[in-house]
Amino acid sequence: MTTLSLIQPTGRLTLGNLLGALRPMVERQADAFYGIADLHALTVRHSPAALRARTEEIAALMLAVGLDRSTLFLQSRVPAHAQLAYLLECTAYTGELNRMIQFKEKGRGNDATRTSLYTYPVLMAADILLYRAEQVPVGDDQRQHVELTRDLALRFNATYGPVFTVPEMVAPAAGARVMSLSDPSVKMGKSNADETGTVYLLDPPDVVRRKVARAVTDSDVGADAVRHDRAAKPGVTNLLEILAACGGSPAGITTYGALKAAVTDAVVGLLDPLQKAYADLADDAAHVRSVFAAGEHRCREVTGPVLAAAGSAMGLA
Ligand code: TYM
Repeated sequence: MTTLSLIQPTGRLTLGNLLGALRPMVERQADAFYGIADLHALTVRHSPAALRARTEEIAALMLAVGLDRSTLFLQSRVPAHAQLAYLLECTAYTGELNRMIQFKEKGRGNDATRTSLYTYPVLMAADILLYRAEQVPVGDDQRQHVELTRDLALRFNATYGPVFTVPEMVAPAAGARVMSLSDPSVKMGKSNADETGTVYLLDPPDVVRRKVARAVTDSDVGADAVRHDRAAKPGVTNLLEILAACGGSPAGITTYGALKAAVTDAVVGLLDPLQKAYADLADDAAHVRSVFAAGEHRCREVTGPVLAAAGSAMGLA
């Protein structure tokens, strides 16, 4: 089953990225293409030096989490992504892009919004369709983008002939939507202003402990205070979900203190091997670069014929 997913180098990777995407990716490595979406990172104000540094860090982290049996690549190094994005822009409707939540939240109504933020989901559709991916492991926040990708694939195939595979999103049972520890109404994100609510993959154990200890719960201390209830107890539910996603069990936990201790242990236990592997790889940048160079070579081979088929179906000579 061909599997594909990308991660944007717009900040340091978080526990949300790990539970929502990277771990499901590690479980699916046969015929898998996993990339760093550096072109997508240009859609908002950015610093070129920071982009380069984040890209290097994420490349090493992808190997450190165990993606060593997949084809790894940098999106900008595979020219067919930008090329297919243009062809798909010629099939996508402005009505569809106007409905995209990310654009509504991050850019609509601001004259200085980059045009590429508006067309962002079309580039993402190109990422997926170029590889004829069947499965796309992503967190819940990417659902609308994968649905648009499906719509564009179906429309293209119906209009110009059967070029693309219609992909399915795959989300983990627990961890598809990890929320901020300091404000469980917002997603734990790479670029959240309040960093105390975000656990970064390279946070040392004492930092994880402090962030979890300060996590927002609520003032209910009844006998069933520790329970799953997203509406009434979003903070506690988030901690329970993180615990489950890290392989921990809530059995016997009745207090917030005990819940936070269990979450800390589970998260630190999950991050420890990854941080050790990262430390080794950080000393061997040449190895990371060579893995990505080999991946990019393979991606060019795989994507060339699909781009050509799409152009030809549309009538390009
Ligand atoms: P990005 O870089 O924001 O996030 C990378 C992956 O992590 C998941 N994720 C989360 N999952 C659970 N809880 C969270 N708090 C959380 N935060 C992030 C995301 O859902 C994603 O799977 N548009 C994409 C990048 C992209 C892409 C693609 C993905 C570009 N082209 C093609 C799949 C296929 C993005 O911004 O992800």
